[in-house]
Amino acid sequence: MADNTLKERIFRTLKDLPPMPEVARRARVVLSNPNSSFSDLADVIESDQGIVTRVLKMANSSFYGLSGNVSTIQRASMVLGVKTLMELLGMACSSEIMSGTLDGYDIAAGDLWKHSLAVASASKMIARRIRPEMEQDAFSAGIIHDAGKIILNPYILEKKSEFQSHVRMGKGSFLSAEKAILGFDHAELASEVCEHWNIPEHIALSIRYHHDPSPSNHDILTYIIHVADAAAIMSGIGAGMDGMLYPINEQAMDFLSLKSDDIPEIMAETAVYIEKTIQQL
Ligand SMILES: [Fe+2]
Ligand SMILES: [Fe+2]
Repeated sequence: MADNTLKERIFRTLKDLPPMPEVARRARVVLSNPNSSFSDLADVIESDQGIVTRVLKMANSSFYGLSGNVSTIQRASMVLGVKTLMELLGMACSSEIMSGTLDGYDIAAGDLWKHSLAVASASKMIARRIRPEMEQDAFSAGIIHDAGKIILNPYILEKKSEFQSHVRMGKGSFLSAEKAILGFDHAELASEVCEHWNIPEHIALSIRYHHDPSPSNHDILTYIIHVADAAAIMSGIGAGMDGMLYPINEQAMDFLSLKSDDIPEIMAETAVYIEKTIQQL
C-alpha cells in the first residue's frame, strides 16, 4: 500500500503518541530567554517530581561525578552548569518512552535506550572535536534519533512476516523494507513528528537523514548523527534490525575531518559512559 494513507492515520492519532514531558519544552523556553537565571531553570524542572528524581539520580552517578552529594536541582545546576543539567533533563524525559520492548524490530526492553545513549554520547564527542558549540544539540539529536521506531512498531508488527521475507529474500535492509512496505521509514516519520514533541527544526533535519546524510545539503549535525549511529551499531550497541549493512560513509568521515582512529577512541569512551550511567534511570 503506498502510504500516505498510513502516514495520515498515524498523524490523526498523534495526540495518542507518547508526548515528551511538558517540562522539557518549558526548560527550552526558559533557556531561550536571556534574562532568565539558573534558578528559573531549576524552578521549571522542580515542577515535575518524577523528572527531579531521575535527574538527581543521574547527577549523582559515577559518570557525572556528584557521588550522592547533591539533593536539589538548584544545587545540581550550580555544580554541573546549565549545559549538563539540560543533558540530564533530556535523558530523564526520554528514558521512559525509550525503554520498552519493540517486538516489531526485535528490540528487547532497554536496548533502544542503550543505543540512543550511545549515539548521544558518541555524537557529543564528535561535536566536541570539530564543533564544540554543537555538543548539546548533538547529544539531544542522538537521544531521539530512532524515536520513530516507537511510533512505527505496532504497524511493523501487523506486517511482520512481510518485513522478514523482504530481508530474508535479500531485497534489502530492514530500513528499505520500511520504505517498501509502509511507504516511509522511521527516520522520515520521526522528523515529521518532531513538531509534536517541540523539537527544533535543525534537530529534526538531522533525524530525517541519519541513515543517509547525503540529501541534507552538507548539514554537519546530520553527518555527526550518522557517523555516531553507524559507529554505535558497529560496536555492537545497535537497536534491532536496522543495524545490518550499515557502514560509515567514507565521505562522512572526510567531511567531519575524522580519522579512522578517532572512531574506536570515541566508542571506547562511549562504552565507559554507558556503563557508568545506564543503571541510573
Ligand atoms: Fe535509525
Ligand atoms: Fe540508530
